[in-house]
Amino acid sequence: MIIALDGPAASGKGTLARRLARHMGLPHLDSGLLYRATAQALIEQGCDLADSAAAVKAARGLALTDFDEAALRGRDMAEAASVVAAIPEVRTALIDLQRGFAARPGGAVLDGRDIGTVICPEASPKIFVTASVEARAMRRALELKGRGEAVDYACVLEDIRKRDERDSSRAVAPLKVAADAFVLDTTKLDVEAAFEAALAIVNSTL
Ligand code: C5P
Repeated sequence: MIIALDGPAASGKGTLARRLARHMGLPHLDSGLLYRATAQALIEQGCDLADSAAAVKAARGLALTDFDEAALRGRDMAEAASVVAAIPEVRTALIDLQRGFAARPGGAVLDGRDIGTVICPEASPKIFVTASVEARAMRRALELKGRGEAVDYACVLEDIRKRDERDSSRAVAPLKVAADAFVLDTTKLDVEAAFEAALAIVNSTL
């Protein structure tokens, strides 16, 4: 069983994916970490984020075990990740790692932007998790504040709008709803209600 959750930044897909994975006893891959880690490697090496050769090398060198999540979750890394994620060769370099994860015996839960459309078109169910941009910005601002980052709601809203635009308009694997995806709008749902709704979708496809 491969469960694919896609959606824009701070829609709640990561939290839902983690909880569904735990509930179903399946491994979980947050594919955003791959793009964040690629960006982090470039920054550490002093390379330009648009240096596609260096970005591909960094992407190919990633292993699923070596993520420092605390460092990768910051606001600057989210922005940098969306820049490297628009480089087609970087996306190609990360396909096998993601498909290999999805092919684990028993299945897996993956979340990202293109899991249901490109990485695992055979996934079932596919859930496209969304929420209003204001609700997403509020959640992300609270999350960043909780982690000690000094943030301003208006700046986070602006960041998310910019990232939505870049992720939806890129030429390769843009963020979009797969034709066979269930759409789950979490604007008015708390974490518990969103989880129940996602679980109902999963159960409806078993
Ligand atoms: O999901 P997260 O916010 O961690 O993703 C960071 C960035 O990585 C996104 O804004 C997007 O540009 C990119 N990404 C992607 N495809 C994925 C996952 C993330 O392009 N499957």
